[in-house]
Amino acid sequence: MSDSNDSDSQPDPYVDANRGDFQASQAQAAPFHIEYAARVHRLPPYLFGRINNTLYQKRRAGKDVIDLGMGNPSDPPERSVMEKMAEATFDERNHGYSKSNGLLNLRRELASKYFRKYGVRLDPDTEAIVCLGSKEGFSHMCLALMGPGDTAMIPAPYFPVHMYGVILAAGNVVALEVADSDKFLSNIAYTCQHFYPRPKLLIINYPHNPSSVTIEQDFLTEIVKLAKRYGFMVISDFAYSDVAFDGYTPPSFLASPGAIDVGVEFTTMSKGYNMAGWRVGFCAGNEAMIRGLATIKGYYDYGMFQAIQIAAIVALRDTEAAVERQSEIYQSRRNALVDGLRRIGWDIDPPKAGMFVWAKIPDQWMQRMNTMDFAMMLLEDGDVAVSPGSGFGPAGEGYLRMALVENESRLRQAVRQISRCLERQSQNYAASSGVESNSI
Ligand SMILES: Cc1ncc(COP(=O)(O)O)c(C=O)c1O
Repeated sequence: MSDSNDSDSQPDPYVDANRGDFQASQAQAAPFHIEYAARVHRLPPYLFGRINNTLYQKRRAGKDVIDLGMGNPSDPPERSVMEKMAEATFDERNHGYSKSNGLLNLRRELASKYFRKYGVRLDPDTEAIVCLGSKEGFSHMCLALMGPGDTAMIPAPYFPVHMYGVILAAGNVVALEVADSDKFLSNIAYTCQHFYPRPKLLIINYPHNPSSVTIEQDFLTEIVKLAKRYGFMVISDFAYSDVAFDGYTPPSFLASPGAIDVGVEFTTMSKGYNMAGWRVGFCAGNEAMIRGLATIKGYYDYGMFQAIQIAAIVALRDTEAAVERQSEIYQSRRNALVDGLRRIGWDIDPPKAGMFVWAKIPDQWMQRMNTMDFAMMLLEDGDVAVSPGSGFGPAGEGYLRMALVENESRLRQAVRQISRCLERQSQNYAASSGVESNSI
């Protein structure tokens, strides 16, 4: 009764036109505030923003910038794969929602590739799942495994989603340097012995992006032993499994004895198959971890366009030779870039795999400016875009990541432009400070 009296005594904003107008004018006076969730505030400012904006402005102004910034393949997939995609698109049965864990035949094709290449037996029903690109699968796997109070060990420097996939899942991160593999192993043991609660997850990524560090099977077998000893799960990001040089074959984590008890491995068709825009990735390995990912995906997505999955089956089954040829192309580009940079005096380790050269910036430049400013200088004055190593965390300071996504002659041209830019900048510096320009 008193409720109805109270409401009788107060004008109802929905029926009282005057009050309604008053509220509307109040709302106009104060801007509507959009409050993001706390997880968004845990993300840092986007570090490549400065580079990307300048690159965009230069291109809009008609400049020909050589872009070695992103590992975005510039070559097309095999023609037979594109034709299959076109054909499957015209099949009316392929346009509905698909299964969120992917077509069984695609998972079978993944399993047979694992057996052919690494001798690993997978049950395509329970130990393999298709993802909308491996990055999607990785992020959702973090959501399935990590929560408040959980810690993951990740490589440093880090591919951003290795850090922020965990952060977005409300977990915490310990970053361990990858440059020295023995030290990486001992740091894992040390972290497990000294952290409470112990880390729940280890993320590994070999061939590593951005540093191009590679390892052998023994190393992965040690990882499995450590995982069993300290009770952490493992996610192996094997994105560059198909891109390797000089006879090196990157080993699969799943080929180490007992790996499937403790972890999963992500692979992708983005790199070796030139299908980055298609968004085809896979997760294979531990059944319970795959089930966790499938549960999250079941709520979030309706699977991949079936025409893409059908064409991906053809790519996995029939185009292995093309994947090898693509590696040879990257190898020639690596040679062109590494030789060129060495000729202008840079100290570079040629990578054995992956799509990047991880180039140490000459010391004389690092004494004058930080990595981001150096990369900006190459872009602004040299028209060459690269990724500053510091964009991959503090362990990347002092390095540039250069993606092998332009052809050999453009890569040679990039080196010439870098060389001229550094000469000009040395002279400018010498003129303004009275120092010999060759000391820069
Ligand atoms: C280490 C690493 N993992 C994952 C990915 C993402 O691959 P995908 O295209 O399958 O999402 C990339 C792409 O650059 C990468 O470098």
